[in-house]
Amino acid sequence: MKPIQVGLFGIGTVGSGTFNVLARNREEIVRRAGRDIVISMVADLDTERAERIVKGRAVVTRNADDIIGNPDIDIVIELIGGYTVARDLVLKAIRAGKHVVTANKALLATHGNEIFAAAREKGVVVAFEAAVAGGIPIIKALREGLTANRIEWIAGIINGTSNFILSEMRERGLPFGDVLREAQRLGYAEADPTFDIEGVDAAHKLTIMSAIAFGIPMQFGAAHVEGITKLTAEDIRYAEELGYRIKLLGIARRTAGGIELRVHPTLIPAKRLIANVEGVMNAVLVKGDAVGATMYYGAGAGAEPTASAVVADLVDVTRVHTADPEHRVPHLAFQPDRLANTPILPIGEVETSYYLRLRVKDQPGVLADITRVLADNNISIDAMVQKEPAEGEDQVDIIMLTHLAVEKRVDAAIARIEALPVVLSKVARIRLEELR
Ligand code: HSE
Repeated sequence: MKPIQVGLFGIGTVGSGTFNVLARNREEIVRRAGRDIVISMVADLDTERAERIVKGRAVVTRNADDIIGNPDIDIVIELIGGYTVARDLVLKAIRAGKHVVTANKALLATHGNEIFAAAREKGVVVAFEAAVAGGIPIIKALREGLTANRIEWIAGIINGTSNFILSEMRERGLPFGDVLREAQRLGYAEADPTFDIEGVDAAHKLTIMSAIAFGIPMQFGAAHVEGITKLTAEDIRYAEELGYRIKLLGIARRTAGGIELRVHPTLIPAKRLIANVEGVMNAVLVKGDAVGATMYYGAGAGAEPTASAVVADLVDVTRVHTADPEHRVPHLAFQPDRLANTPILPIGEVETSYYLRLRVKDQPGVLADITRVLADNNISIDAMVQKEPAEGEDQVDIIMLTHLAVEKRVDAAIARIEALPVVLSKVARIRLEELR
């Protein structure tokens, strides 16, 4: 059978990784796919760099339309990133009848509904394993491996940059800013690291996973997104003393009232496997009603780990290329006419536990005042620690862990607590999940 011809948009780190993995493992891949897969065209604005990487093995062009207009190309790989040019090219390629493989989580989380609708109309596949957690085959697991299950929740460490920063802050007791600079020096964080450290990148990935897990459309705009920039080394240390680690988690949970979709720093018990995922590694916990809790761990970024996912998609698309579009695995796991309109819960309605840190005057009655406010808001305390005052000071830190409470009640209680004259600082509040 003649080889599947592939056109690649963007030959940066992941693009060159894909080129190399495909070339190196060609023989095995042919044995798996049943036919050869060849990247025969590459479009990149930096044609000199592209030529250096492909070394004559593919035609290099500055113009992506050369690929879209070539009737011999069956699949395009989009590795440009961003929402604008990438969206236009992907939609154009689909309209030209090409299958698409993409690693672009921002694009799918924000324009996925439009892109999948266009793909269905043309009977082509849009494959995106590389968009979530790099080399970890989490899309395949959620969409196919766990298809027997009603998924109850997902909790993931899905941004390596912020996990690296939190690991370093905990292990070395350093402040956020110092570790961020180190992450930039090591090349983990971008020069503009906003999407990584503000939780946006994780929310893109969580949005994609939630659609597949629950059979809902992509709803990035409804996700609650908080990053790690306000975390202090002090909170990380106090959490540790109480037996918890702080991780930037993406959580999607089905509840009676709707779906929770949230990214924020979270205390999790240090003894959980996922609490021990350190550095730039990623991990995703998925709880299904039949299988129980399952965990997927691996490299969430990098040239060859991400290429591993891109090439897996190429093989998948190659296998189904000639299959009847009506009988392929649906893009979002559920049949497109059976998506649910389950609401995404506003963050105020979410019920979880909380870590609260307050700086207070060390005098009689302070705790009574605070616990009265919590009781008035139906918030029950699970554990509490009062730190020793520093030498010669009359102020102390109090750390409280609560049982499950509704977020808007916690917000109301915090506003009242902060107004007490004996409370000397803003209340630091971090959500806590037991992940049982
Ligand atoms: N910037 C991402 C991370 C990798 O730090 O995990 C690509 O999604």
